Amino acid sequence: MRVAILCSGRGSNLLALLRASEANLLEPAELRIVLTDSAAAGAINIAREWGLYAAVVPRSAYHANRDGYERRLLEVLAPHEIELVVLAGYKRILGPVFLEAFPNRIINIHPALLPSFRGQDVWPQEVASGIKLAGATVHFVEQGVDSGPIIIQGAVPVLDDDGPDELAERILRVEHQILPQALAWLASGRLSIENGRVRLEKTDSLESAAAQTLIWPPLNI
Ligand code: GRF
Repeated sequence: MRVAILCSGRGSNLLALLRASEANLLEPAELRIVLTDSAAAGAINIAREWGLYAAVVPRSAYHANRDGYERRLLEVLAPHEIELVVLAGYKRILGPVFLEAFPNRIINIHPALLPSFRGQDVWPQEVASGIKLAGATVHFVEQGVDSGPIIIQGAVPVLDDDGPDELAERILRVEHQILPQALAWLASGRLSIENGRVRLEKTDSLESAAAQTLIWPPLNI
């Protein structure tokens, strides 16, 4: 399964995917291309260091024309015959042109336990809210901001002295585990969606629950 990764920033989730792929943990997914919307994205350098084709399609050239921008993204992807798309720190909201090209074939990582804390720059909001449990979510992408059926979630504690940066760092550790896991399941055809809920094939509900929730550090009860 040929995979494109869309990134806007530093690319640590991309690196986690590359490492998982190198360790044969993503099969049958094959990482083929990285697309970024900005030439400043650190993800480009990571892709190139790992010998992965990377292309910059600057959003700025398209102003308010989201459809035109997404048609351009599809043109760039076309020769690579991409089957799955991973949004790994991609900061744009995708519209129908792109979404309809990959129905139930696009996943996103978000640094919160959705449906709480949608949108960007969530860590200060999480800290300010006083929640004791934060985390990350991988979900299928639908129209809307950070919405779509949830594939896997990872939880971390919020410590008393956490600021946004400390919490973001702890959440990132679970992001780097759950995103490769979700992609491996998707690529191997193990995910189905029923009534907006994701089912992991070939597991009973207790096994699914164990696989689709990650708690870090493990609870010692
Ligand atoms: C991650 O926290 C991701 O959840 C969010 O943006 C950040 C991207 O980090 N959507 P990186 O570029 O993968 O390091």
